[in-house]
Amino acid sequence: MSENIEITRQRLGVNIDHVATIRNARGSAYPDPMVAAKIAEEAGADGITAHLREDRRHIADADIDALMAGLRTPLNFEMAATVEMQKIALRHCPHAVCIVPEKREERTTEGGLEVAGDDNRLASFIAPLRDAGCRVSMFIGADEQQVRASARIGAAVVELHTGAYCDFHYEGRIAARDEELARLAEMSALAHSLGLEVHAGHGLTYETVAPIAALPEVAELNIGHFLIAESIFRGLSPAIKEMRRLMDEARA
Ligand code: PXP
Repeated sequence: MSENIEITRQRLGVNIDHVATIRNARGSAYPDPMVAAKIAEEAGADGITAHLREDRRHIADADIDALMAGLRTPLNFEMAATVEMQKIALRHCPHAVCIVPEKREERTTEGGLEVAGDDNRLASFIAPLRDAGCRVSMFIGADEQQVRASARIGAAVVELHTGAYCDFHYEGRIAARDEELARLAEMSALAHSLGLEVHAGHGLTYETVAPIAALPEVAELNIGHFLIAESIFRGLSPAIKEMRRLMDEARA
């Protein structure tokens, strides 16, 4: 399947959640995620991603209002499949809505969504979002059942969770990392063959991005924590530009 895919420019979505994490650590008015989003757009981001969590630990409702009003690139709104979040998404109608699993006690989005076991509920959950014109994306692990279920329920996009691949890399478990990469490659091809647009993200860094960026079916990467961390040392714009360069190099 992959041999027939034209290698196109891959979009970079910059996730600005952790600008809000720093702000909220002190309850200050700064740093403002909207200012970060503007810098990201200037640096070449193709879109901005923000996750409004149930506990509002980073992004707040007012941040979503500001992003919707002020962005010139599309907003990818990440949310759990709850009635509260569905109402907020329907009020804003962002370009994309990415459905993610959410647990209060987790530090970050630990695994992918269980679409296969919850397909009836998720199908009716995403229908109004689709009808409102949002591109609905399911954040899933590299698992055949989850890919097939996402296609079945009418999602437009799957975002493949790259967290395990990145963790294995940093733990020095190279065989496990390469097996996970092979699964990601296989599931990208499968998802694409089923008519789904393929995105990927979570945990990506300069060290880990190239093999994922090189997957021909992956149209978009969403990257946040590392870019915000790296911006402490080199500034947000140079941090993003370097990621962009590595993605382009991997796809060349
Ligand atoms: N994609 C999704 C669906 C996510 O939930 C996250 C984390 O919020 C990311 C991408 C970005 O992950 P990271 O911040 O580790 O780059």
